[in-house]
Amino acid sequence: MRTHHCGLIDEALVGQTVTLCGWVNTLRLQSHVAFVDLRDHEGLAQVVIERDNAEAFALAGEIGNEYCLRVSGTLRRRLAVNDKLKTGTVELLADTVEILNAAKDLPFALHEHPNEEMRLTYRYLDLRRPEMQAMLRKRIRLVQALRRYLDERGFQDIETPILTKATPEGARDYLVPSRVHAGQFYALPQSPQLFKQILMMAGFDRYYQIARCFRDEDLRADRQPEFTQLDLEFAFVEEHDVQDFVEELIRHVFREVQGVELDAAFPRMTWAEAMRRFGSDKPDLRIALELVDVADVLKQVEFKVFAEPANDPAGRVAALRLPGGATLSRKETDQLTEYVGRYGAKGLAWLRIDDPARGREGTHSPVAKFLDDAALAALLAATGAQGGDMLFLGAGTWKTVTDFMGALRLKVAKDRGLVEDSWKPLWVTDFPMFEYDAEAQRYAALHHPFTAPKIDDIADLRTHAATAVSRGYDMVLNGNEIGGGSIRIHRPDMQSAVFELLGIGATEAEAKFGFLLKALKFGAPPHGGLAFGIDRIAALMAGTESIRDVIAFPKTTSAQDLMTDAPSPIAALQLHELHVQVLAEGAAGH
Ligand code: AMO
Ligand code: AMP
Repeated sequence: MRTHHCGLIDEALVGQTVTLCGWVNTLRLQSHVAFVDLRDHEGLAQVVIERDNAEAFALAGEIGNEYCLRVSGTLRRRLAVNDKLKTGTVELLADTVEILNAAKDLPFALHEHPNEEMRLTYRYLDLRRPEMQAMLRKRIRLVQALRRYLDERGFQDIETPILTKATPEGARDYLVPSRVHAGQFYALPQSPQLFKQILMMAGFDRYYQIARCFRDEDLRADRQPEFTQLDLEFAFVEEHDVQDFVEELIRHVFREVQGVELDAAFPRMTWAEAMRRFGSDKPDLRIALELVDVADVLKQVEFKVFAEPANDPAGRVAALRLPGGATLSRKETDQLTEYVGRYGAKGLAWLRIDDPARGREGTHSPVAKFLDDAALAALLAATGAQGGDMLFLGAGTWKTVTDFMGALRLKVAKDRGLVEDSWKPLWVTDFPMFEYDAEAQRYAALHHPFTAPKIDDIADLRTHAATAVSRGYDMVLNGNEIGGGSIRIHRPDMQSAVFELLGIGATEAEAKFGFLLKALKFGAPPHGGLAFGIDRIAALMAGTESIRDVIAFPKTTSAQDLMTDAPSPIAALQLHELHVQVLAEGAAGH
């Protein structure tokens, strides 16, 4: 249909007959001539339709934006060169113009930034926008680079089932009813975790898959109900083998796709250190601000809000020093207090530091009156407060304070432009093996239940479950968890013990994971691996906040596909065949 792509014509073609196909990007109709910027996936070309060409000129009067055209003519040099356009030195003088398809009035102008609901409803129009094309192509290049690297190194690309049995990764399952087996369901995989482990037991040694995962969980900018992992597994390895390999892989794709040279060796930080210094298990190291524990200097004060958590081993009192923060207005500190409230903070104390040398006189704060001179001086010393700073103090249970002070750190850094423009990867290691779920009154796995503990002895693990550390690791980049993995349990007795500690009894373990426990009994090799979130890496590379921008057809934060209108009701007959009965709205969960 065409001889060239719009975005690729150049002066070498001047004088030649050229046929282009594409969409009307812009149209300028004058009395004796029409200019059409025709767009395809390679870029724009200017088409000129002169009045002398009566038939084509008449058509020009009919067309509008986003009409799909085919234009033939002679390529010529432009009188007025457009420096902003790659093809700006040439134009196509139209001989014939053919309307391949008309376009209705658009629901939004493509060069404006339409709202997300419109973009997702008319995704095909949204995706025509050059910035969307560029972002998706970045993702494509990322996936190509990942595959090439792994293929060249002997990794086996193996598909694992989509209709399967539940693999827990901490979210709810999407379920598919079986027509043939009444009342029974497949689960869509939350990850290929168990299959990749079994592939190691089956002797494949090095596996990868670009795998779709499904998780019914609360959605955010960096979470979709279905997303894509680069899933990896290695037999006969320890932590460093996996980490060194995937670190090199990430360095390679950043070099190749992004033109960025990441640190030669990613720093490593234990989970405990990350939580203490940054209030996050995925610290953004582009921000220099750090939390400082100040319980020690506030143990004796009379103000209970500080003294109680300061004296409670399960409490925390943390300070955040914001250099230059004294300029924050009362309204802004109120807004920050409200902000941390969303993370469970009961309040947020602040001290505006004019001159730390002048102690109380040099400090303005609603809480200063609750602190004696010694405590105030010790607080200023512990945080290294300087004139012009703002000090924030958070007090409460360890978890709440860690969460809200970590969130505060990110918020003030973003608001005040304190995020360095750089790439800061790191490894977070030594995660707790278990997390106590107070509501359910039992332990939950912090990674997944197949992660090995550092303690090798089962009796020891039982005694020290609350403080046990796992062999899990996460790769973090600029405050995003881009990958997570672990060395796995490869002994059946240890796997059974961990299930038991997680409150999964022998019968339930057998019903849910009997196949794994059985497979572990036939000479399972030590193994481990990791999975990267491809959407997240692509979003970082594309410089967008939302992974929806690097997914062709994403879902909304309420898990809907606005274009196809999924999910949608199912006809009674089909439900009947599936042996499914739908409860009245609101009846579920009661
Ligand atoms: P994990 O649950 O940490 O580990 O997932 C691995 C990586 O996948 C990405 N990710 C997501 N991306 C978009 N939307 C989501 N809802 C979402 N959930 C996770 C993150 C995360 O780091 N089986 C293990 C891996 C292993 O142990 O080898 C697993 O799935 O970037
Ligand atoms: P209150 O006694 O609750 O009015 O609080 C007095 C001061 O302490 C106010 O400035 C509150 O913002 C602050 N405050 C209250 N709770 C906390 C908390 N959990 N952490 C830090 N500051 C708090």
